[in-house]
Amino acid sequence: MLDKQRLRAVQHESNVCADIEGFDFDNYTQQDIDEVRRYWLQYGVLRFKKTSMTDAQQVAFSRHFGEFVIHPKQLQEGGHPTHKEILVISNVMTDGKPSGAMGNSEATWHTDTWFYERPPAGAILRAVAVPPSGGDTYFLSSYHAYETLPEALKKAVDGRQIFFQNVYDKTGKLRLGKSAPKTRDFREWSGMVHPLVRLHGETGRKALYLGGTAEGAWIVGMPLDESESLLAELWEHTTSTSEVFVQQWDVGDIMMWDNRCTMHRRDGFDPNSIRIMHRTTTSGERPV
Ligand code: SIN
Repeated sequence: MLDKQRLRAVQHESNVCADIEGFDFDNYTQQDIDEVRRYWLQYGVLRFKKTSMTDAQQVAFSRHFGEFVIHPKQLQEGGHPTHKEILVISNVMTDGKPSGAMGNSEATWHTDTWFYERPPAGAILRAVAVPPSGGDTYFLSSYHAYETLPEALKKAVDGRQIFFQNVYDKTGKLRLGKSAPKTRDFREWSGMVHPLVRLHGETGRKALYLGGTAEGAWIVGMPLDESESLLAELWEHTTSTSEVFVQQWDVGDIMMWDNRCTMHRRDGFDPNSIRIMHRTTTSGERPV
């Protein structure tokens, strides 16, 4: 017999996020984890306010939601000194070298590592140090993006595949292990093909899958100019939604998102202030 439900999910006005209340990171049961999973699937994004979670607790908690994925930035400047499962996102410089990934720059809308064969299912991001202003993180639902498409656009995207080049990142830097391609047409570069509308493996709902940028993306089989204008329309539709949750961080806050049905972005912030985040990432299925 199950205990009475112990957690409470308080939904935000934007339907993409809920605060989870009543979760004790020092002492939780499998039933608590099951409830978190249920809410995660329901809302797409969960927030735990002002926790005192440690790195070890973050690793242990994340393990309940899947195998760890090493984010490419962990192999560069974002490795954690003792917990290999953690990606450090930070603008702190130590001895003239970054001691984390992403610096203080803005990150535009994306879903994580969309150019992988199996993009991660989830991410858990915890605030270790926050700047007095800036560095807010924004979330939207890509279920909502799909469900609110006009019928003509739904018809245009259903059953389509999208190619993402995986040679350069969004800032134009070569990705780890990649070398400069010999041709100018990115459709001939190394890349990954995914469905433009993906079916969530656990909820069975359809979500628009735009990856991280319209540049270097192509709707397979479509003339390039048509693909570019359709992608521009889809990006505009998705990112102009008012259903956005904005996270203004306090130390100890945790955001936990489902990467299969959400997108996120973050604001830049003053380079003279300090922002440190610890993130764990869990594995996902190949999109279908
Ligand atoms: C990310 O894109 O995972 C980083 C988000 C953030 O630093 O707020």
